[in-house]
Amino acid sequence: MSSKVIIGAQWGDEGKAKIIDILSEEAEVVVRSQGGNNAGHTVVANNETYKFHLIPSGILYEGTECIVGNGVVIDPDGILGEIDGITAKGISTSKLRISKRAHVVMPYHKVLDGIKEQYRGEGDIGTTKKGIGPCYMDKAERSGIRICDLYNVDVFKARVRDNVEIKNKIIKYVYEQDVVLDAEQIIEDYLVFAERLKPYVTDTTVEVYEALRADKKVLFEGAQGTLLDIDLGTYPYVTSSHPVTGGVCVGAGVGPTEIDECIGVMKGYITRVGKGPFPTELFDTTGDKIREVGHEFGTTTGRPRRCGWFDAVIGKFAVRTSGLTSIALNKIDVLSNIETVKICTVYKKGEELIHEFPASLEELAECEPVYEELPGWGPIDHIKKYSDLPENAKAYVTRCEELCGAKITMVGVGPDRAQNIYVD
Ligand code: GDP
Ligand code: IMO
Ligand code: MG
Repeated sequence: MSSKVIIGAQWGDEGKAKIIDILSEEAEVVVRSQGGNNAGHTVVANNETYKFHLIPSGILYEGTECIVGNGVVIDPDGILGEIDGITAKGISTSKLRISKRAHVVMPYHKVLDGIKEQYRGEGDIGTTKKGIGPCYMDKAERSGIRICDLYNVDVFKARVRDNVEIKNKIIKYVYEQDVVLDAEQIIEDYLVFAERLKPYVTDTTVEVYEALRADKKVLFEGAQGTLLDIDLGTYPYVTSSHPVTGGVCVGAGVGPTEIDECIGVMKGYITRVGKGPFPTELFDTTGDKIREVGHEFGTTTGRPRRCGWFDAVIGKFAVRTSGLTSIALNKIDVLSNIETVKICTVYKKGEELIHEFPASLEELAECEPVYEELPGWGPIDHIKKYSDLPENAKAYVTRCEELCGAKITMVGVGPDRAQNIYVD
């Protein structure tokens, strides 16, 4: 098996980066295919914590090529800041590659993200305000600017001027704000970024294809999670890309025949940042305890994450919509010392049982989770072998697996790359 896709199977922050980092030891190429620096990916290794936003989480391994694919939206200032940050820690970025076809996040995207959220008022989405939605909007509207455009100066200048003229009108006349963007300043700044990014820029579809042809081990690193997918998630409380496995083919420029395995990353419970429905959300001290023990605060924005019980209706949905061949279940150590743990097996709407995750948010709001209760377990963060886990913890893993319908092959018992147990 030479290529594996790793995606988030819940609402993001499932610990994807930890799994990518672990699998990167054997991988030769790691590819991001969607999202932008709205992602916050944490790797804990060698007593150090690394946070990545656009750079693939395989970068800690010297020989691993790290590719930012065409489906990613790139904030040049953001990625350069990341490059500087990791270079300062002594990590080489010489194997980083950035797609010529990726779209560029421009200052007006960030401004519009903030203004639109403000305008939505109580109905805001709770975006990361990184300009992700507006950048993907321009891409779909065909007015976006791509990385390759940065190196065709006349085209680039014309596109920036056109966009700024329109965006300034939208900001002034539609949103009635007095922010005025300066096209010439943006051009000047971005041409400096372009020069610095140049050594990394290439046709990444060729790199990925050649790696696969050479039978190299390739990992595709998902960002966000299934329920944040613009088609399959809790629309409109979603991001603007495709975090499901299907997004990888378009976002990395590979055919579906190239994908051998699809691994869904889940937490032993669920979290969500930003707004939107969340059937198993906890509003009590158990929720607070999970947040505190699991350090559930956003990697990108620092916002407290909403916490709730594991939801197998969602797990099953992720298995179905991404064709998951296996599951990595992280953070079950966080549930240690809780007397009784709960798993949502099905929803109830009035007297009706709802087995499949609803499309309509109004219907979802009417759904009450039906829980199965299981006995808890004590501390497990020191355990290295699956057979050494307490019986109750193993029973919990087995039940999650049965309900979701895919094999759990890895279990996380702590944030460090060493705190990962392979299920025998
Ligand atoms: P990602 O966006 O899916 O890569 O996940 P984040 O990095 O945003 O959030 C996951 C958090 O959980 C990070 O702080 C990780 O260091 C941490 N983490 C990952 N796996 C485990 C685990 O098994 N146990 C514990 N306690 N923490 C974990
Ligand atoms: P990783 O890769 C969790 C959420 C935001 C908001 C919604 C839309 O670390 O799992 P956006 O800025 O994308 O327009 O915001 O999506 N969101 C995430 N939540 N993890 C992420 O990434 C997220 N990226 C975006 O909080 O609710
Ligand atoms: Mg994250």
